[in-house]
Amino acid sequence: MSSSDMKVITVVGSGLIGRSWAMVFISGGFSVKIYDNQPGQSAKAITEIRKQMEELEEAHMLRGDLNSTQQLGLLSSYDDLGRALEGAFFVQECVFEQLEVKQSVFQDIERLVGKDVILSSSTSCLVPSKVFSQVQDKSRCIVSHPVNPPYYVKLVELVPHPETAAAVIDTTHSLMTKVGQAPVRLRKEIDGFALNRVQAAIIAESWRLVQDGVISVKDIDLVMSEGLGMRYAFIGPMETMHLNAPAGLEDYMKRYGEGITRILNAFGPVPAFSSGEAAKSIVNEMCELIPNDQQHLSARMERRDQLLMGLAKLKKDH
Ligand SMILES: NC(=O)c1ccc[n+]([C@@H]2O[C@H](COP(=O)([O-])OP(=O)(O)OC[C@H]3O[C@@H](n4cnc5c(N)ncnc54)[C@H](O)[C@@H]3O)[C@@H](O)[C@H]2O)c1
Ligand SMILES: *[C@@H]1O[C@H](CO)[C@@H](O)[C@H](O)[C@H]1NC(C)=O
Repeated sequence: MSSSDMKVITVVGSGLIGRSWAMVFISGGFSVKIYDNQPGQSAKAITEIRKQMEELEEAHMLRGDLNSTQQLGLLSSYDDLGRALEGAFFVQECVFEQLEVKQSVFQDIERLVGKDVILSSSTSCLVPSKVFSQVQDKSRCIVSHPVNPPYYVKLVELVPHPETAAAVIDTTHSLMTKVGQAPVRLRKEIDGFALNRVQAAIIAESWRLVQDGVISVKDIDLVMSEGLGMRYAFIGPMETMHLNAPAGLEDYMKRYGEGITRILNAFGPVPAFSSGEAAKSIVNEMCELIPNDQQHLSARMERRDQLLMGLAKLKKDH
């Protein structure tokens, strides 16, 4: 099969994110070849995926037009990278978040594929110019950063290398759209991309408010889950502002811009997240709400995923 068929995708690394990508791609009707460098690991991943897909089908939450049997028929596992890459037009890398590991994986991949094959990385924290520094032809390289769990949280940040070809960004954007994800384009690379930069700002101010004795851990979480988050699941901060003044965004900033600037100028420094008494006390307060043992954490993770599933269902109907 030639890569021009655009039917086969190779997923490299079969951990949490690799398995999720595989499920997303087969839901869109693509054949997915999973590779992992731990022998037997990719086969185990398929067993795990089968279990998850049967549960999804039962919950009527299976994505795509095909039933679980048909989707599972599109999956295959490989312990050999060369065989896993045969026929692929798109490679989604999902190995450990370690720069040297990713660099060497992409070097290996480039040696084994034709020059029109797109090389895409799932990295959360590494910029494309670092991840792809060992690749000869960087025009085919892109970061496609998912959000966990991608099956329910559909955002994918597309981050180009300075040399990435426009056609590669376009093809990746249409692939992600076709499989039902919600791709956004960053016009240039930046540390943290967009999502984690916004998240860092929220984390920092939440932490400071607790640290300064303004509010409890429990209540700052409610500020988000019962307040801001209610809107943010459907409209972002820009549209929120646009709709919160009678004449839109410009009007909003006339009314509230000064106040926002005053607050921002009074923000404290970056908190010490993992040293000192304040950090210890915040961690303790959190652990009193949800103890950090496996049993309690797993139960809350399961609850989170159930709630996200419900929200994904609601968003689909709107
Ligand atoms: N977990 C998340 O919430 C999340 C969200 C977005 C992006 N990511 C990114 O996705 C990537 C994968 O994360 P994960 O959580 O799935 O990790 P993971 O540890 O669950 O899985 C990594 C897998 O890669 C395999 N692997 C390691 N080196 C390899 C190699 N050289 N060749 C082939 N396979 C190899 C491992 O055996 C393992 O199965 C990371 O870059 C991470 O930053 C993770
Ligand atoms: C899935 O769809 C195929 C093709 O339409 C059909 O033959 C098969 O019985 C279906 N399987 C289930 C479990 O519904």
